[in-house]
Amino acid sequence: MEILFPTTLTYATDLVREKLIEPFGRPVNKTKRKVTVVGCGQVGMAVVMSILAQNISNEVCIIDANEKLVNGESKDVQQGSLYLRDAVIIGNTDYKASEDSAVCIITAGERQKKGQTRLDLLKTNVKIITQIVPPLVKYSPETILIIVSNPCDILAHVAWKTSQLPLERVFASGTHLDTARFRYFIAKRLGVSASSVQGYVIGEHGDSSVPVWSAVSVGGIRFRDLSKCAGAEGDTDQWHEVHNQVVKAAYEVIAGKGYTNWAIGLTVASLVSMILDNKNEVATVSTLAREREGIENDVFLSLPVVIGANGVTSFIKLQLSGLEQELLCKSAETLNKAMQSLKEKK
Ligand code: LAC
Repeated sequence: MEILFPTTLTYATDLVREKLIEPFGRPVNKTKRKVTVVGCGQVGMAVVMSILAQNISNEVCIIDANEKLVNGESKDVQQGSLYLRDAVIIGNTDYKASEDSAVCIITAGERQKKGQTRLDLLKTNVKIITQIVPPLVKYSPETILIIVSNPCDILAHVAWKTSQLPLERVFASGTHLDTARFRYFIAKRLGVSASSVQGYVIGEHGDSSVPVWSAVSVGGIRFRDLSKCAGAEGDTDQWHEVHNQVVKAAYEVIAGKGYTNWAIGLTVASLVSMILDNKNEVATVSTLAREREGIENDVFLSLPVVIGANGVTSFIKLQLSGLEQELLCKSAETLNKAMQSLKEKK
């Protein structure tokens, strides 16, 4: 069987690779493409449709505790399967239906309402996650688990502990969405495509997220080489406004339609395709960050990693500016406080 792992040419020395990439996890052989989505609310169904419509997988299982809803949603999609390359779509309340999934995605739980932050959902959604993870892992012990429900950083931490899966196989979609928004807003301002903008948002998927302005580039040209303070204090071009737009993005969408779903659906589908096609793409997802980039707290937050068939296969070693590093540590502290409050409430 084909070994699904990046093959690298070996040189006697490779300083750039050594400085840039920190290998993580183990190589594995995988061919299964079944994907399970838990929760068939607006986010879950946007994930399902983004996966099916882009032919990322043609075998999707939808699990939800609400039998009427999961039957209705799965039947509705099944009836369009002629236009989805005859994809197999199953809906069930029983986790047995999810058996042998290569990827399981959790979208269930309370969602952010008008005026609420993602951290406000913590207590309710922790309970839900701890009920969902054990049966999922029981039926798919080899799965990769992606947490989308909010606050996704903390819930991924809880899910990882509950699942007892290797660290590389449990992560949250995290700031992969904030990064998409960041690249889109920069692209719009410059009149180029979002895929032509490189750069990322790290830290909490939420109000304390951190834009890495020092790494933003377009067409290989770094912003910082054009303007020393692009995005930072004293930037007369006001690039820092772009990050405010990113932080406000979900609140604005929620004020308009009551929830967000399409951007997160597409974002999660892109992670699934990185796994199923062993793409080894760099993405910002939320994983255990302790002892990385100066973080001391035992928290999950987003950092740029490489995603392939085995989940997180490497970490990109950042070269943050002093301010970025400080903001990242503050973001870690925010998440740590929320995590501690959980212990106190028990
Ligand atoms: C958002 C939700 C998924 O940012 O947190 O759209």
